[in-house]
Amino acid sequence: MDQSALKELAARAAVDAIKDRYDKEIALGIGTGSTAECFIKMLPEIKDRIEVTVASSERSAALLAELDIPVSDLNASGPLDVYVDGADEINGALEMIKGGGAALTREKIIAGASEHFICIADQSKRVSELGAFPLPVEVIPIARSHVARLLADLGGTPVWREGVITDNGNVVLDVHGLRLNEPGPVEALINQMVGVVTNGIFAHRPADDAFLAGSAGVQRMTREIRS
Ligand code: A5P
Repeated sequence: MDQSALKELAARAAVDAIKDRYDKEIALGIGTGSTAECFIKMLPEIKDRIEVTVASSERSAALLAELDIPVSDLNASGPLDVYVDGADEINGALEMIKGGGAALTREKIIAGASEHFICIADQSKRVSELGAFPLPVEVIPIARSHVARLLADLGGTPVWREGVITDNGNVVLDVHGLRLNEPGPVEALINQMVGVVTNGIFAHRPADDAFLAGSAGVQRMTREIRS
């Protein structure tokens, strides 16, 4: 099965989970990327369950509008019931690296405003330790070189994603070679750097469920809630 078929499978599992979980109209957060787009294209079939959507990128918002799905913004929508998005890497604790599509900041905001977070991906995104995928960091443009030096001091090799401007008007540094066996503290440390808007580690707000599609089918992983 090719990767696009696997993405479809994962997206289908999220649609089914939403049908099972909610018997009311929901406020739905929508992610960015090729797997999220598979999910968006399936939304017309559950349109009657959707009160409103909030998208994590202009691209996803445009696709929703094309399909005639109601799109709002987070200030108007209030808290969201569920957020569905892909990932660049996901570990066993459902912590992720995201931002390959440069939408990490809006993704993190919308994930934080959602009661439930479903990650959809093909099995190639499942890792035992995060960090092989270069960590995206969204940076205010004038701080680019300054932040790059701080990231190098942390032991990473930052590479400016030239030509890419985020939906928020900022730039992205992709940091190679960081050790992320404890992603939470690194997420907090990088977010403390002046000039950083946010970074693509999703450890403080991991997914609650993940549907990971492989040739043997879809594996569901559910996060253990620690008290
Ligand atoms: C977008 O900024 C990312 O966080 C995406 O969720 C991530 O890159 C996964 O994208 P694909 O579904 O295209 O692999």
